[in-house]
Amino acid sequence: MTRQLFVTTALPYANAPFHIGHMMEYIQADTWVRFQRMRGHEVRFVCADDAHGAPIMIAAEKAGKTPQAFVTEIAAGRKPYLDGFHIAFDHWHSTDAPENHELAQSIYRALKDQGLIVERTIEQFFDPEKGMFLPDRFIKGECPKCGAKDQYGDNCEVCGAVYAPTELKNPFSALSGATPVLKSSSHFFFQLSSPRCEAFLKEWTQTAERLQPEVLNKISEWFGTDEDGKPKLADWDISRDAPYFGIRIPGTQDKYFYVWLDAPVGYLASLKALLGADFDAYVADPNVEQVHFIGKDIVTFHTLFWPAMLHFSGRKVPNHIYVHGFITVSGEKMSKSRGTGISPLKYLELGLNAQWLRYYIAAKLNARVEDLDFNPEDFVARVNADLVGKYINIASRSAGFIAKRFAGRLSADLGVEGRMLLDGLRAHAETVAELYDEREFGKALREVMALADRVNEYVDQHKPWEIAKQPGQDAALHDVCSVCIEAFRLLTLYLKPVLPALAEQVERFLQIEPLQWADAQRALGHHTIAPYQHLMQRADVAQVMKLFDTPEPAAAEPPGGEDLAAEIGIDDFAKVDLRIARIEKAELVEGSDKLLRLTLDVGEGRLRNVFSGIRSAYKPEDLQGKLTVMVANLAPRKMKFGVSEGMVLAASHADGKAHPGIFVLEPGPGAQPGMRVR
Ligand code: 2FM
Ligand code: ZN
Repeated sequence: MTRQLFVTTALPYANAPFHIGHMMEYIQADTWVRFQRMRGHEVRFVCADDAHGAPIMIAAEKAGKTPQAFVTEIAAGRKPYLDGFHIAFDHWHSTDAPENHELAQSIYRALKDQGLIVERTIEQFFDPEKGMFLPDRFIKGECPKCGAKDQYGDNCEVCGAVYAPTELKNPFSALSGATPVLKSSSHFFFQLSSPRCEAFLKEWTQTAERLQPEVLNKISEWFGTDEDGKPKLADWDISRDAPYFGIRIPGTQDKYFYVWLDAPVGYLASLKALLGADFDAYVADPNVEQVHFIGKDIVTFHTLFWPAMLHFSGRKVPNHIYVHGFITVSGEKMSKSRGTGISPLKYLELGLNAQWLRYYIAAKLNARVEDLDFNPEDFVARVNADLVGKYINIASRSAGFIAKRFAGRLSADLGVEGRMLLDGLRAHAETVAELYDEREFGKALREVMALADRVNEYVDQHKPWEIAKQPGQDAALHDVCSVCIEAFRLLTLYLKPVLPALAEQVERFLQIEPLQWADAQRALGHHTIAPYQHLMQRADVAQVMKLFDTPEPAAAEPPGGEDLAAEIGIDDFAKVDLRIARIEKAELVEGSDKLLRLTLDVGEGRLRNVFSGIRSAYKPEDLQGKLTVMVANLAPRKMKFGVSEGMVLAASHADGKAHPGIFVLEPGPGAQPGMRVR
């Protein structure tokens, strides 16, 4: 029976280019999809950028762009990676697209109608300078357990403690450095703790073949009640207050869906953009199997929140969640935002063959949630031994004779041994297929390489290069080489899900239609092939090591801890009137631990009063009599302690806690108060 498969990979955050972890997931899913298509199944394979959330909003602001423009730019950079590694999504969308707004809101309304949305007031840290609630990631402070400085709001990287941001000692906003204050606001929760949710999730997770055994094991710990008799499944906070880059919650003015609510809805939105009017019927069709490939870090979202959202909004639930581990590089763990030191784009730019990576990753993948290591020496050895040494070699040792001695025409009389060898190869079609279907790619490829070994033994026994020299042995040479070409066709078929571009080249060389799985049971017979052209180079360690030469640009810290502001023209700059000022007087300000009051001479025949937030770095007496630079045409600002008539220039790092210090600017010797700085 033809399967209908709706397949996705996790939607990547639209705040950075792809790293090798993304490529691993795409290669895994793409290989599986290509295999299913070769079996004659119908697949819709989609993905999208995960556009929303506070981190993206903040990154956009730092880059001086609107969040929409910011994510559009990231999306525009996706194609070279996907094309370069032969990842053939049917559609790539964005969670900020209209389809997603509509779908997320309609799912929310349905959940609300089910009585599963509750409103509760909660207290959270609020950054008074930025005027926004702070996500846990943007609150830092000292670990309540071990006292380590500069730890994130949810867990300590030094001692591993997990806590609420409100437990941090001396908390500060990573955005502004300000001390956050507790502020209450009302939030919407999805009532996962309700008995009907738990009942549904137990049933859904335990349905056969939905989840890998180790995933199911882990999840089982999340059900039931804790020591106090409370359900372990807590209600899920799905709202965020403005300012937030996301989808507005219907019926509110200033509340948005938490990014993780609308992110998986993006799977459906992307499918809808692909299918148009056929979408509704397709997603409701019980014969369609919905399959999500994801990493082990986002299991909760896909095995609890997402199926519950779908089920209680009256939609079909996912059929399979396929979880993979992480990729390490030479044993080193990857950072989620920065990835590893190796950039997939650099890999391509160095001229490394994308299919080497596809093969290497596939050869190390299995159906379990295991991490996989990319090791450059191992990579080169594996690619050269298997792909070039075992597989390509079969064609390169036989094709030349077919062209030169037999005008490209194959023999159909292959001899007993030849036929046995080929029947043996064909007999593995179902075993290999099962392994692909079960995502046991490593086992599938080992099986294929074992078949290649058999073919190479046959070649070594029959030595076509020797038969070729013996007079009167044309028929034997013709048969042996034809066996090799047919074997090569079968191996190509088995490798095609992993090596799609190479398979296409081989199809051209053999002058055949695109290989389907059923073609394993056919034979080329009397058939004419094209002249052989070399199909794959050997990998070279020195070339692969170039991947590690310089760090990926995206991994570099921006200067001073922040990205440069948006570009301006000289006219914009000319609007800022900078002047040399002499600090006549500097004094403490009573009631403020941040400010100093400065009395400045800007050569105007009068003195100016300026408040400056430099008290932590300077004693008043250190400044008195010094020259500095000030913004002299800044509109006077009324402050709690008086009017400030300008601003003194000082340098500081964006992360004031990690890189403390404020440095007031001083002109070179000879400058006089009132001189313009340009
Ligand atoms: O962890 C992540 O990278 C998320 N952007 C994955 C989202 S998957 C889906 F739910 F959209
Ligand atoms: Zn700690």
